[in-house]
Amino acid sequence: MTDKTSKTSNKMWGGRFAAGPDAIMEAINASISFDKRMAAQDIAGSRAHASMLATQGIIETSDAEAIREGLLTVLSEIEGGTFEYSAALEDIHMNVEARLKEVIGEPAGRLHTGRSRNDQVATDFKLWVRDQCDAAEGALVALIRALLTQAEAGADWVMPGFTHLQTAQPVTWGHHMMAYVEMFGRDLSRMRDARARMNESPLGAAALAGTSFPIDREMTAKALGFDRPSANSLDAVSDRDFALEYLGSASICAMHLSRFAEELVIWSSAQFRFVTLSDRFSTGSSIMPQKKNPDAAELIRAKIGRIFGANVALMMVMKGLPLAYSKDMQEDKEQVFDAADNLMLALAAMEGMVRDMSANRDQLAAAAGSGFSTATDLADWLVRVLGLPFRDAHHITGALVAMAETQGCDLPDLTLEQMKLEHDGITEDVFSVLGVENSVNSRISYGGTAPVQVRAQIARWKELVA
Ligand code: ARG
Repeated sequence: MTDKTSKTSNKMWGGRFAAGPDAIMEAINASISFDKRMAAQDIAGSRAHASMLATQGIIETSDAEAIREGLLTVLSEIEGGTFEYSAALEDIHMNVEARLKEVIGEPAGRLHTGRSRNDQVATDFKLWVRDQCDAAEGALVALIRALLTQAEAGADWVMPGFTHLQTAQPVTWGHHMMAYVEMFGRDLSRMRDARARMNESPLGAAALAGTSFPIDREMTAKALGFDRPSANSLDAVSDRDFALEYLGSASICAMHLSRFAEELVIWSSAQFRFVTLSDRFSTGSSIMPQKKNPDAAELIRAKIGRIFGANVALMMVMKGLPLAYSKDMQEDKEQVFDAADNLMLALAAMEGMVRDMSANRDQLAAAAGSGFSTATDLADWLVRVLGLPFRDAHHITGALVAMAETQGCDLPDLTLEQMKLEHDGITEDVFSVLGVENSVNSRISYGGTAPVQVRAQIARWKELVA
């Protein structure tokens, strides 16, 4: 392996090294292939740090200005695709600083005063994750708006509600859409909570113990949009809770997406035909000409795997690490990057699918009336009108369901005479509750499926995401 060892030691930290790293050492150690995604955050952090150093009289103002300008040049090279990344320089932090040295010369060496790569990477990564919270928030609001449009159009369209995926009671299309609004609304608030908690600046914690330079951590915190500096330097460099909270929120959101995606897969099948997905979010089969497959929904359903996987992986990386920084923590980023990319993709695809899909109102209504979906309404009628105990009413209704089943008909198809065989107090009035429209209209309890309740929730949410 020695022949693969580079002759020169690392120019950023190699003072005490006689030889450079083995090629394998470089391969396992370098993070530039992925942490280059944090270039903008790294440069923002360094520019804030340089200004602060000058304000505090730690470096010359002219040096700080050269650093700040030079960093913008480096950023434009990165954005323009002309920047040459080097694995020998390990990571984005040293790649940027080394290039800064080439661009502005000697003052570049003063930038790293009073900080370390440990607080630098914690700061960069936090800024990156914070941006992802904002991005997820925006995407969730867009998805919620799409759901509200669907809910409003079909606030009073009846459909079967399920438990155990067996027909349970009729509900409204709007109510079903609004159930997801509640879920994605909680995801939104989880992202906001995580963002608020993570918004403390690690910058200036230095390697782990703080610094003897008279730095102003409030100033850099403010410049980077943090609420305050973090209060313990050991914690600041070793904390990755913020990434875990993001991944936890992302995982729960992906879980919700997967449930909805599963429903869309079922609903768009020939057996259900509850919804028609647009061509824009479906694919065909190369052999079966009739097929229109809900691939986007299936892929969204699967995304939870890698997003939750990232959450578990980072938990395992962090588990048992002694304070403060350990190189293990370099393994935090790829997981989060992958999870964030896929969460954003899944949210955008779901929003597009929801906007484009059309609910098949007639099919929903036909399904709503089948499967004895108003059996509970019949039992409730026996309680309300005849004063029967609910358990007795349940039993009588069960017998009527069995009767209808034997005759191959639904509850409203039984005659009054047949009903009277189970309880002679039953009157013609019972038929008024056996229709699905009546059933949903009667569910007026707060949060219930009656259109009046659904419309109230739509109005509330429209204000919340206005
Ligand atoms: N690339 C490193 C990371 O992502 C930066 C911090 C390195 N710190 C150190 N003490 N080696 O974690």
